Amino acid sequence: MSTLTVPDATLAARLHQLYHDQSKHSVYQSVPAFIARALGYQEEIHSLWRSDAPRYDYLAARLDLSAEATIADVGANTGFFTLNLAHAFPHWRVEAYELNPRHAEFIRLTAEGFGLASVTVRSQSCDFAGLERLPRFDAVLLLNVVHHAGFDFDRELPDDNAAYTRYIIAYLQRLRAHARQLVFQIGSNRGGDKSRPVHPRDDDNQRLRWTSDVLRAAGWRMSALGYAQLDDAGAVVFRDAPDALRERANTGALAESENFFAEAKLNRFPGEFHRRPLVIASADEGNT
Ligand SMILES: C[S@@+](CC[C@H](N)C(=O)[O-])C[C@H]1O[C@@H](n2cnc3c(N)ncnc32)[C@H](O)[C@@H]1O
Repeated sequence: MSTLTVPDATLAARLHQLYHDQSKHSVYQSVPAFIARALGYQEEIHSLWRSDAPRYDYLAARLDLSAEATIADVGANTGFFTLNLAHAFPHWRVEAYELNPRHAEFIRLTAEGFGLASVTVRSQSCDFAGLERLPRFDAVLLLNVVHHAGFDFDRELPDDNAAYTRYIIAYLQRLRAHARQLVFQIGSNRGGDKSRPVHPRDDDNQRLRWTSDVLRAAGWRMSALGYAQLDDAGAVVFRDAPDALRERANTGALAESENFFAEAKLNRFPGEFHRRPLVIASADEGNT
């Protein structure tokens, strides 16, 4: 059980300052509930814009890990996933890789304050070359980071979709040497820029085809495919797509014009962020 070892108000004030650092990815994640409760401190993120807790609930329930697992959270931001995993699974070792030193400090201070000894924060880049320095983990979280290639990192990448798609495949392929399982989510445009779409924003069929194509080409096989839905009370919840749909995606058998959303009885979510599928994948041993 984690304990608070510094005065609440001091920690909350420092975290608030680090959180609002006016950088590209500030004001992104919410504060984990166990920290918010202890400190009386929360940062509000509109739940229809982006919601962390439903993503966490989905992935934490599906990670297939042993008692002493090692996990990397690449592009950990302010540590919503790192801190929640460390709190819920104290025997796992969690390494947060975060390029922004203020975000990294947010995680470090919180982990220290709450006695989360299993957390290590690394302010090092997981760009393409940086992947070589990663140890091997039981699971790597790569959530909404790699579409910033060409802008936040690996800036020499040509500014076009064909080069970008080749890069993503090579990146995911390289990651296979460093991760047994991959938890993956990716934006629909390059660099977080709506004027650089990888596929049309409202075309969920193309989004899934593109995502499953790059994963398959890189040798990953999806074991879970989650989509954000609104439940009857209007809350966001991630639900599994039907197994048959996931298998068709895994084998590249999704038809060009397929309207799988209607077939799978999934509702289209209004916002782009929630339309990004949340995937858990394992190395496809048949594809080396
Ligand atoms: C869009 S946010 C996603 C945060 C989180 N993974 C999520 O889905 O909630 C991307 C994060 O990755 C970090 N980042 C960007 N490039 C990075 C790199 N090369 N290595 C490590 N972190 C990076 C950014 O600072 C930012 O905190």
